[in-house]
Amino acid sequence: MSPEQAVIVIGSGLAGLCATTQLIAHRIPVIMLERAAKPGGNSIKASSGINGAPTRFQPPLQNDSADLFLADTLSSAGRPLASSVAEERARRERLISTLVTTSSEAVSWLVDEKGVDLSTVAQLGGHSRARTHRGGAGQKPPGYAIVSALLDSLNQEPLFELRTNTRVTRVVRAEGDSDDTEGMLGVEYDAGREDNQTETLYGPLIFATGGFAGDTHGLLEKYRPDLAGIPSTNEAREGTQPLLEEVGAEVVDMDQVQVHPTGFVDEKDLTAPVKFLAAEALRGEGGILLVGEGKRFVDELDTREKVTAAVMKGAGPLEDTSRRQWDVTLLLDEGAAAASNTHLGFYLWKGLMRKTTVGELALPSIRDTLQDYAEVVSGKKPDDFGRSSFGNWTLKDVRSDSVVYVGRVTPVVHFTMGGVVINEHSQVLDKSGSPIKGLWAAGEITGGLHGQNRLGGSSLLECVVFGRIAGENAAAFHQQH
Ligand code: FAD
Ligand code: SIN
Repeated sequence: MSPEQAVIVIGSGLAGLCATTQLIAHRIPVIMLERAAKPGGNSIKASSGINGAPTRFQPPLQNDSADLFLADTLSSAGRPLASSVAEERARRERLISTLVTTSSEAVSWLVDEKGVDLSTVAQLGGHSRARTHRGGAGQKPPGYAIVSALLDSLNQEPLFELRTNTRVTRVVRAEGDSDDTEGMLGVEYDAGREDNQTETLYGPLIFATGGFAGDTHGLLEKYRPDLAGIPSTNEAREGTQPLLEEVGAEVVDMDQVQVHPTGFVDEKDLTAPVKFLAAEALRGEGGILLVGEGKRFVDELDTREKVTAAVMKGAGPLEDTSRRQWDVTLLLDEGAAAASNTHLGFYLWKGLMRKTTVGELALPSIRDTLQDYAEVVSGKKPDDFGRSSFGNWTLKDVRSDSVVYVGRVTPVVHFTMGGVVINEHSQVLDKSGSPIKGLWAAGEITGGLHGQNRLGGSSLLECVVFGRIAGENAAAFHQQH
């Protein structure tokens, strides 16, 4: 492959892989640059699944639709969407509309064309319906399953070249009087040469470099210094939005950072700065959250923003002063546990959850709390916190020997809603709202789609939807030039 003919995709997470898959379908060569030693980014860690509405895997009686998904997404996006000026609001609404109306197709594409099992569906926080898809019993977690299916297929392709340990450090613009290259964008990258020199590659660029929830002392400190000391689900990695700002890209919502309510506190390493996530699907399948003496305090399936706020208000601090952590117990009955068996096996093996009985828990109010919740689930009384979806909870008569599964959790910095501004064609926009020629972006590096709260399952979805759109549009550009 001649490097001059290739489209350059930066980042090997789901957005980059989807863009690449589209380009290769048009027989366009791709060079993918990835700073890590292994591909997959945060995408490979995704644990709860991908949203789609309506799909053939959803419970038919719930009558989900793209319109209901749209309403949930608009409501979750909140103030940044509602308070935008007309033109900006219209841009955001076009992105959201594209996301939800193509969600069903995105799930079908993964299942029918890429062979990924997404047959199990859970209801996550802020959703009015069960629409977050993952594999069934015995399947791999959704992020791993999706990323490996796409990578395996790309690795068969002679037109695909993945360069790992290759960190893009700058976006450059070609100079000179050649009509072919003048004004063309390119990237400088550090491929670990012994002489410390960077190398440069020119071509259409698709940025799929993810978010900055792990950029603790960089963008996070700049935009959200108040989150200092809170652990993260993201490994340390600097954000790349500034590279695009240098060539004129606009950024939006950079202060909108999602703190997920449930990162596992490992008893063997209480102060670890990077935590395993306790997948929201555990709550979707029926799990509950407890504080203090063993009391519920929130609708566990409210939006993450609201559940996290309730934790920070209602839970005591964890007995450790070097990090900001809160003491919360996640509890599953046997029904919720059976429905989450793929996740649970891993968490039990890692020692992040344990199997026990109600009587063995040192929580004075636990029996009353669980009996009360069981009555809510059975429809005997409304929930004090407004929860209306209970997944697969089955425990009805709470006894001292009733089996439960518990783990200790705390809020974790998880996802950045802000990023570079794109339009519905995944083109990166400059400060005047015009597309920057030859530059696309997709996935968590982009901003504005989710407003102040991203719904669980909508990041994998945005990677598929806008990654594929970026690939399609870069393919058209490549063919024209
Ligand atoms: P990533 O997958 O993060 O990929 C970006 C890639 O770019 C990385 O490999 C990175 O190394 C590379 N890169 C960065 N900078 C450079 C550079 N300068 N040069 C070269 N390469 C670079 N979302 C859901 O929708 N559902 C879920 O169930 C879910 N579960 C999650 C669980 C966990 C533990 C985490 C952390 C996140 C989860 N999310 C989930 C969020 C979702 O996984 C991510 O937001 C999404 O995968 C981001 O995909 P991406 O392709 O944009 O970026
Ligand atoms: C989770 O599994 O809780 C994460 C889901 C997401 O971030 O969308």
